[in-house]
Amino acid sequence: MKDLGHWVLRTSQDVKFEVVETTGLLDPANPLLGQVPGMSGIHGTRLAVLDEAVDSLFGSRVREYFGSTATPVSYMTLPAGDENKTIENVLRVASRLKEIGTERAGTPPIALGGGVVQDVVGMASALYRRGIPYVRVPTTLLGQIDGSVSAKNGVNFEGCRNRLGTFHPPPLTLIDRAFIATLPERQVRSGMGEVLKMALIKDGELFRLLEEFGPVLVQERLQDTGPLTRDRKPGREVMHRAITGMAEELEKNLWEKDLRRIVDYGHTFSPAVEMGSLPGVLHGEAVAMGCLFCAALALNRGLLSQSEYDRIAQCIHQIGLRPTHEMFFDPEFLERALADTLRHRGGAQHLALLTGIGSTVFVEDLSDSEITSASQMMRKL
Ligand SMILES: NC(=O)c1ccc[n+]([C@@H]2O[C@H](COP(=O)([O-])OP(=O)(O)OC[C@H]3O[C@@H](n4cnc5c(N)ncnc54)[C@H](O)[C@@H]3O)[C@@H](O)[C@H]2O)c1
Ligand SMILES: [Zn+2]
Repeated sequence: MKDLGHWVLRTSQDVKFEVVETTGLLDPANPLLGQVPGMSGIHGTRLAVLDEAVDSLFGSRVREYFGSTATPVSYMTLPAGDENKTIENVLRVASRLKEIGTERAGTPPIALGGGVVQDVVGMASALYRRGIPYVRVPTTLLGQIDGSVSAKNGVNFEGCRNRLGTFHPPPLTLIDRAFIATLPERQVRSGMGEVLKMALIKDGELFRLLEEFGPVLVQERLQDTGPLTRDRKPGREVMHRAITGMAEELEKNLWEKDLRRIVDYGHTFSPAVEMGSLPGVLHGEAVAMGCLFCAALALNRGLLSQSEYDRIAQCIHQIGLRPTHEMFFDPEFLERALADTLRHRGGAQHLALLTGIGSTVFVEDLSDSEITSASQMMRKL
């Protein structure tokens, strides 16, 4: 063995990526959208990928914007919805990148759309030339408060959520809350499901804002335009608190080396429900149900009080989200969902449960009978 070589390479990468809030993003006077992160000058044609709805609502303004700059831009439109989060759409984007001659660094594509378009373009950018930068412009509530700070992308594969994907944070994400003004109400509620999760795991004040303003926030699409909200600006505060909370959690564990993640709260049983009902239950809708199911588990363990459980159920109701779905009535289905999630968590449950509104504990010993009892509570809702 003495003659055999053994080489160890060790390196680390310093990663910095920015999430910038702005207003009037599509106003030609606002230079942010045309910026190439880390570069100056024009380097070639850029690809702008627009979600279908975004194209019909804002496409002409996006084209006017780039028309007023010297940047040559090629456009492509993609359908949204989780059924379109596919490897085929990733390859469609890659083909367009090749067609227009996208460079290694100077011509990052721009993704304007919800979480689906962000994931598809993010993954295409991660794969193209083994990784090129891209710019993220999330246009849904879910995309702005959750996907916006994430380093991940992914597509659904063979009936499994995000089974293919990479870690590839874009250097720049631009957030303009005005995009939410055109979002269908159901999509706003779905985004609020993810805000609720953030409130439950670490931000009691955010939860109180949801309790006080939940229905108004949905109705006004977080624009703070009504008499109740103009001075208090809960839309702005909810958005900031949710992004800050997410950024804090991700920054300390960006590559998910630690598989115990409180941001996965409500995401243990929900992926199976979401994929099993596709396209019936939206991501944030399934997450809200997952949050309540886990609150029931915590209640039954004596970790959470009845009054806290009731407040959570009431808050979900106020936001206009469904608290339950028939898939939560089937304990065996839920046990299979847990088993599948376990494979994603290195074989351990690492299940975050609430010990109050705004605090959590990880448990590793959830039993089938606990799942059955909580499932019965979901049936009664
Ligand atoms: N990579 C990550 O870390 C991460 C984080 C959170 C969510 N996600 C993914 O995001 C996806 C869900 O994202 P989503 O909820 O944004 O769904 P989505 O991208 O399907 O968008 C929802 C709907 O809103 C429409 N839309 C988008 N912007 C609009 C606007 N401004 N006005 C009107 N309509 C608009 C879309 O066309 C679509 O019909 C899931 O696949 C989830 O896994 C990924
Ligand atoms: Zn989520």
